[in-house]
Amino acid sequence: MNIQIFDSQEQLDETAAQYLIDTVKHNPEAVLGFATGSTPIGIYDKLVEKHHRLGVSFRHITSFNLDEYVGLTADHEQSYAFYMNKHLFSRIDLPAGQTNLPNGMADSLNSECKRYDQLLEEHPIDVQLLGLGHNGHIGFNEPAEGLIGGTHIVQLQEKTRDANARFFDSKDEVPTEAVTMGVGSILKAKTIILAVRGADKADIVREALFGPITTDCPASLLQTHSDVIVLLDREAGRKLDL
Ligand code: GLP
Repeated sequence: MNIQIFDSQEQLDETAAQYLIDTVKHNPEAVLGFATGSTPIGIYDKLVEKHHRLGVSFRHITSFNLDEYVGLTADHEQSYAFYMNKHLFSRIDLPAGQTNLPNGMADSLNSECKRYDQLLEEHPIDVQLLGLGHNGHIGFNEPAEGLIGGTHIVQLQEKTRDANARFFDSKDEVPTEAVTMGVGSILKAKTIILAVRGADKADIVREALFGPITTDCPASLLQTHSDVIVLLDREAGRKLDL
C-alpha cells in the first residue's frame, strides 16, 4: 500500500484531487467512483476549483457512487444524491446522465441492486475514492460474519447511525437501511484512494491497514488489493509505525 500522511487537510485534499484529475487527463472517459461523508468535501472543492481555474473537463467521464440511504428522496438534504449535486455535480461539467447512484426509493430494492451491478459490470471503475467508517466500514459495508460481494441492502449499525446523526435533526431521522456497493465491487476498481481524517479514526486506520484481514473490519480487505493509495492527516495516521 502507498500510505501518505499530510500535515494539513489542504495537502490531503489537493493530493486526492490531483490523482483523480491525472486519471481524467490520461483518459477523458474514465470511470470514477465517488464517496460521501465529511471527508471528501474538500476533495470535491479542489476538483471544482481545478475545473474552473485550469479548465479540467469531466464531460466524458462516468461516475458511480458507493451508496445511498433507503427511503430518502434525491431532494432530501441528507440523501447522497443531494450531497453529490451540492458538492460536485452541479459545479462541474459532468452531464447528469453519466452520474450513477443507487436509488434508495426504488419500488423493488432487489431489482435496483441488480440494475446497479449490471451498470458496474458495463463500466469498470478506474479510480474509487473511499472514506472509512469508525467501525471499519467502506461504503456502507458494515462489519459482519460474512460480506456480500455485489450491491445489496444493508442494515446500518447503531454506531454508524450515531456517527451520521450529526447531519440530521435527530438520530431518529437517520435511516436504518442503505443500498451499498459490495466489497467485491469496490475491490474490482483498478485503483482505490482511501482518504481518512481525524484522531477518532486513528485506531481503525491501524486495524484496517495492519490488522488481520477480517470481515469484522471490512476495510481490512483493502490489504488484498494491489493498488491502494492511503491518504491520511497526521491525526488519523498517528498510531501507525511507519
Ligand atoms: C458514511 C459513508 C461512508 C463514509 C463514512 C465516513 O457512513 N457511507 O462512505 O466513508 O460515512 O464519513 P466521514 O468522512 O464523515 O467520517
